[in-house]
Amino acid sequence: MKVLVVGGGGREHAICWKLAQSPKVDELYCAPGNAGIASVATCVPIGATDLDGMVKWAKENAMDFVMVAPDDPLALGMVDALEAAGIRAFGPRKNAAIIEASKAFSKELMKKYGIPTAKYQTFTDEAAALAYIDEQGAPIVVKADGLALGKGVIVASTVEEAKQAVRDMMENGVFGASGSTVVIEECMTGPEVTVLAFADGEHVVPMLSSQDHKRAYDGNEGPNTGGMGAFAPSPNYTPDIAERCMKEIFQPTISAMKAEGRPFQGVIYFGLMLTPEGPKVVEYNSRFGDPETQPLLSLLDSDLFDIFNACIDGTLDQMDIQWKSGAACCLVLASGGYPVKYEKGHVISGLDEVKDAVVFHAGTKLNAEGQFVNNGGRVLGVTALGANLAEAVDNAYAAAKPITWKDMHFRTDIGKVWVNQ
Ligand code: AMP
Ligand code: GLY
Repeated sequence: MKVLVVGGGGREHAICWKLAQSPKVDELYCAPGNAGIASVATCVPIGATDLDGMVKWAKENAMDFVMVAPDDPLALGMVDALEAAGIRAFGPRKNAAIIEASKAFSKELMKKYGIPTAKYQTFTDEAAALAYIDEQGAPIVVKADGLALGKGVIVASTVEEAKQAVRDMMENGVFGASGSTVVIEECMTGPEVTVLAFADGEHVVPMLSSQDHKRAYDGNEGPNTGGMGAFAPSPNYTPDIAERCMKEIFQPTISAMKAEGRPFQGVIYFGLMLTPEGPKVVEYNSRFGDPETQPLLSLLDSDLFDIFNACIDGTLDQMDIQWKSGAACCLVLASGGYPVKYEKGHVISGLDEVKDAVVFHAGTKLNAEGQFVNNGGRVLGVTALGANLAEAVDNAYAAAKPITWKDMHFRTDIGKVWVNQ
């Protein structure tokens, strides 16, 4: 089979790495890919959101299967466009990807179907939003509707901070069109856990649990990033909690989407908070998380291509998905200054000396001399296994030791602060 993966980050490297292990995948392509992905797939220079370009290339090159990984092309309807052209595609269609693309939609869905989440109200009128904040008091959470690269969420500890967030979004257009509708919600407390799940429109099969580290600096300080490291599984996610999540959140969500005429086929990401009242949904994403995918797929024993096909065929209930025991940790090595301002083009050294880990590339390219250089905020994800979380974390840090470049930055506490997250 000829398979194309759409995207070009660490998540896509992990997906390509895993798909390349399938005996059914004969030829693997990735668009646009990156310099690390080029070691397992042929990279094609088409932007991930170029719907027409992607469909045309997939058709002309007779792709049997296209996997769309990032949120933007999913929200734009790339899966629909591929299907319309007669190409088998993995990922939710546009009408299901809205579960991530619109927070107003997802909050309404949860309310309608009784899926536990924070109490909220949606506003398109600034004065009404400000009045609601006065009425509710702080702490309170302000979110821009729409895709804001994970940065459109302000957990405000004071009323003034919350009001400023509303003004920034609705008046100053800090998040562009995403901020013209805001969701204001109750502030929940408790540890956060992420569960990604495969879904075929009707059935849902959770993967292992995982945890991201969204803040840039140690101790969960600094600005929000795309994710500075992740591990799986999460010690906070007990079998009891898992059972409750399946019954109260995962299956009800997939059934709700089906009932709404928006069957969800693909990977769904449940961002959960384990509150004193039980697990609640913080957010849904319509895709694999980055960097959660790197440790998760490192622990997956089954053939990922078979699972993708079962999601499309509606036969997930017949799959027996197997995971390795133990744990995995992905340590993200980032460019100094990320997520605000950083330099690109510095030569990365030490990659050849890495032992007992897989280095997934998130933002690298080759310079004129054929050396890897940093080419993004998140650059590499050093991913190691271990018999337990502590071992996996130690192994990832040990494996990353030889790697360096000018201004490289990483957190030193990945997997160590999970109790307080
Ligand atoms: P989101 O983009 O919705 O995942 O939000 C980013 C982060 O903001 C989450 O991972 C939480 O840490 C925090 N957050 C979002 N909503 C809430 C809430 N209702 N209560 C407390 N924290 C929240
Ligand atoms: N790691 C968070 C995300 O992929 O949204």
